[in-house]
Amino acid sequence: MQDQASNPNHSLFQPVARVVYASQANIAGSVYAQMEHIRAAAVRHNQPLGVYTALLHQSGWFIQWKEGPGGALRELMDRVAADPRHHSLRLVHASRGPRLLCGPWSMAIVQGTGTPDDMARRVALLRRKMDAGWQYAPPAVWRQLSTPLQHPGAEFQADPEAFQRVLVCSARGLLAFELVHWLAQGHGQEAVQRRFAGAEHLDVGTDYVDFQQGERVMRVIAMARRGLALPLTRAFVPDYSHVVVLLADDPAADIHLLHKVALACAHAPVRPVLLGVAARPDTHGPLLRLARELDLDYQALQAPGGDAALAWSAIEPALARWREAANASQAQPLQAVLHG
Ligand SMILES: Cc1cc2nc3c(=O)[nH]c(=O)nc-3n(C[C@H](O)[C@H](O)[C@H](O)COP(=O)(O)O)c2cc1C
Repeated sequence: MQDQASNPNHSLFQPVARVVYASQANIAGSVYAQMEHIRAAAVRHNQPLGVYTALLHQSGWFIQWKEGPGGALRELMDRVAADPRHHSLRLVHASRGPRLLCGPWSMAIVQGTGTPDDMARRVALLRRKMDAGWQYAPPAVWRQLSTPLQHPGAEFQADPEAFQRVLVCSARGLLAFELVHWLAQGHGQEAVQRRFAGAEHLDVGTDYVDFQQGERVMRVIAMARRGLALPLTRAFVPDYSHVVVLLADDPAADIHLLHKVALACAHAPVRPVLLGVAARPDTHGPLLRLARELDLDYQALQAPGGDAALAWSAIEPALARWREAANASQAQPLQAVLHG
């Protein structure tokens, strides 16, 4: 499967039409099986047209984000609109700009976060904002529909989008997921579980938790290693302040992960800072050199292996430094709103 970097017909910087539609799903039986059927059709039809898609099923709704040449996109949407597996299509984003999806297909299934009415309200709100001239980028539209900030502190943020997002990946094992669940437990918050899939890599787990840290609401997202290759993940990379790599102190596994992170960041206009967490200090040497070659900003952190709490004690101060700098330069911090 080619991605945009290797396909000369789909230039990275050539503006394309970008749309996001919401529709109510009309599916009997397995959602996953229907998504698989749609995936098969989309991979067959969209690639030759230069149309790339991300499709979400959540709370009885489909959200589809499509990018490509305007004419091809209109033709495709005429066919999709007539599909009996959904109804009541509503456009919630339309723009022209560079491609943000770097491959023909991503899909996500999110279970158990809200009712169809919750989603209907989010769709209606976004549509009202769109009609009033508010323009969010497609990733922000997707996020406001699928994973809006639920934490009570969020409503005090002057800008609901101004929260800190951190991606965590383990070089081996499931420590990234353990960290998210440990944070959720400690803060009395729910860890939200999602399944992603791409054109080739099926069923990638990614869990996240929102909680208040210092003056900001923070989202920590655990991602399975192969999830880093998904176009959907790569479209969200510029939104992360940091990518935390929980290293295995095994050069082969650690270097492999660093290459995956570099690939995920390759086309991001703004790259997150990489925080490498290792038990052994000598793990960092080769990774620092590789990160320099790959043009990544790598910070070396130390924590005993396999323990989520100890890993977080090493990570948090680095995140706090970023927050201090961000608070000094841009969005109004939560405490200022509460007490100012
Ligand atoms: C929410 C939703 C999104 C879809 N997206 C696409 C798509 O991006 N590309 C596509 O070819 N078909 C998509 N489909 C399926 C089409 O409606 C249609 O079933 C399919 O293109 C027919 O392909 P076939 O004639 O090769 O069977 C989608 C269907 C739904 C319900």
